[in-house]
Amino acid sequence: MSTYEWEQLREHLPAWLEESRQHHVHGNVASYIPELSKAPRDALGIYIMDGKGQSISAGDCGLSFTLQSISKVFTLILALMDNGEEVVFSKVGMEPTGDRFNSMLKLELVEPGIPFNPLINAGAIAISSLIAGNSTEEKFTRILQFFKLLTQNDTLVFDEDTYASESATGHLNRSLAYFLTEKGILRGKVEDVLEVYFRHCAITVNCSDLARMALILAYNGYDPVAGVPLIPRRYVQIAKTFMTTCGMYDASGQFAIQVGLPAKSGVSGGILSMVPGRYGIGVIGPALNRMGNSTTGVHLLETISQSLDWSMF
Ligand code: DON
Repeated sequence: MSTYEWEQLREHLPAWLEESRQHHVHGNVASYIPELSKAPRDALGIYIMDGKGQSISAGDCGLSFTLQSISKVFTLILALMDNGEEVVFSKVGMEPTGDRFNSMLKLELVEPGIPFNPLINAGAIAISSLIAGNSTEEKFTRILQFFKLLTQNDTLVFDEDTYASESATGHLNRSLAYFLTEKGILRGKVEDVLEVYFRHCAITVNCSDLARMALILAYNGYDPVAGVPLIPRRYVQIAKTFMTTCGMYDASGQFAIQVGLPAKSGVSGGILSMVPGRYGIGVIGPALNRMGNSTTGVHLLETISQSLDWSMF
């Protein structure tokens, strides 16, 4: 971290965070997965890590939360590592949808009938079916191991209650998965694929885990703290591009203009972002805006990026 930025963050981050926290009144905690509704609506935390492993944090950055859609970036990377680009892009496209993340509208409407991208639910479910392994257990264990490697956190687990809550209420995801099976896109049994998907969405992290995962993307697949390459550069490039075009769903364009950094949000209120070549960033703010992104988290990232001129564009 440059001395100037470090000092700016040290001086201003707590106040920027408290100002952004006020915006929780404009959002609501997700409740379509009943377990998520227990999250504190006014929580907000951030953790920023640089390539030397130095960090700065503020607010409720110790709060645990489930990755939800943030996990989709990393299952995509694992599926690419397991199968290569040709196989992956025969099952999912490369374009934003302009629809809700769980919409099935375009699946039937637009040929060739594959999900538009791997970050919407239909695409991520198709990706879950591409993870190598002889059983559901083995596939999920491989995902968890990969996430442990990226976070350097050997204690990562998935939250049984959130998993059970989503599995019991995930009718829309089930219908997407059956539709994809009918179209020949899904490999394996629907319920097995959904179990892998629901479980990886329920992996529990905190802001420092998110920042650590983001740091590896910021350094093109190289872990600058441990000094080891973890992901081929090409697959990180693909993941970061999807984060920029679709990572914040229908607000991805607005986020690119206001913040200008690759990012991925989840319905638990997490946002993983990064300053390429420099920092990994993890944010949690459970109150979501209309688009399904953390309202406080987006506000805080806008404030920091505009104050420190972090936009890539
Ligand atoms: O499948 C779902 O609906 C959730 N497990 C994940 C959705 C999500 O995080 C969308 N993000 N903003």
